[in-house]
Amino acid sequence: MKKKALHCIDVQQFNHNFLEEICDLADKIREISRTKAGMEYLASILNHKRAMLYFVQPSTRTFLSFYSACQMLGIKCAEVRDPKTSSEIKGESEEDTVRTFSLYFDLIIMRHPRANFAEKIANLLNDTDHPVPVINAGSGKDQHPTQALLDIYTLRRSFLHRGGIAGKQIAFVGDLRRGRTARSLALLLTQFQGVKLYFVAPSEYQMGQDILSFLDHQKTAYEITDDFERMIPAVDAIYMTRLQDEWDREEGISVDIDIERFSFQKRHLDLLKADGIIMHPLPRRQEIAVEVDSDPRAAYWRQVRNGMYIRVALIAGIFQRDKKILDYYLANT
Ligand code: CP
Repeated sequence: MKKKALHCIDVQQFNHNFLEEICDLADKIREISRTKAGMEYLASILNHKRAMLYFVQPSTRTFLSFYSACQMLGIKCAEVRDPKTSSEIKGESEEDTVRTFSLYFDLIIMRHPRANFAEKIANLLNDTDHPVPVINAGSGKDQHPTQALLDIYTLRRSFLHRGGIAGKQIAFVGDLRRGRTARSLALLLTQFQGVKLYFVAPSEYQMGQDILSFLDHQKTAYEITDDFERMIPAVDAIYMTRLQDEWDREEGISVDIDIERFSFQKRHLDLLKADGIIMHPLPRRQEIAVEVDSDPRAAYWRQVRNGMYIRVALIAGIFQRDKKILDYYLANT
């Protein structure tokens, strides 16, 4: 990671080398964790640390995979998921709440509805005499950097015997304007030579101009379309996303779109390349039919599992235990 402090705030802080290294480390952690001795080793390396999981937006996968990742490394966890149970209800600011966490815990993992909140907290803590690392586990409509890491890890594993991610064609489908997972992954894919991205959405939900400008700047090719079926045979990976309608109230809009036009149905499997993959950050609604799950090209349940290993690798790296794990791997596998 390029950032001075070992915070994980946005994907712009990751370079290609870091992505390769963290994916390699996650592979080795996966291998080590297959044995009881390996699990006991992993659980010994950070068992003097404590983590706060401050998740004031709903989550299943990110919360539980971070929880599991901490458990795998022996880190003890506490959580605040409902601010009504904290002194925020008495009028304490969120900033003071999180600063309080930093005095009890060695790591703060946070999901928050406000874009840039994790960055604000990281900067605030950097100026205190007790800074602790902050991991952004999803910030508003803006970024979800650790989801992008697990997505890169999934793409890399999927294309291991096809020359890697470089040169692949990847389609993003759904509510791309408000989907922080798609936004973060699109930014991160600029680290790979020759990729081409397709953004498939109705105009109301097309990818934001900020992301498109970044792609232009990085000379990453992309195409904007609303023709889902035409795009399927052309790509190596399809990244489906759901309608992010939890933002409708704040935005004061509700667009009536035909979701069916942007859904992956069983019949679409015939259009997809034999070695193509279907991804989804989950949760899904109807954008992928359940009948698609049993096809080997459905990668979304593998993504869930990959998320745990990449988060173990991330936390180990933040606490500079990555070299120690690699040494154990070399000596024991
Ligand atoms: N992908 C993802 O962020 O899922 P959760 O909202 O369940 O954490």
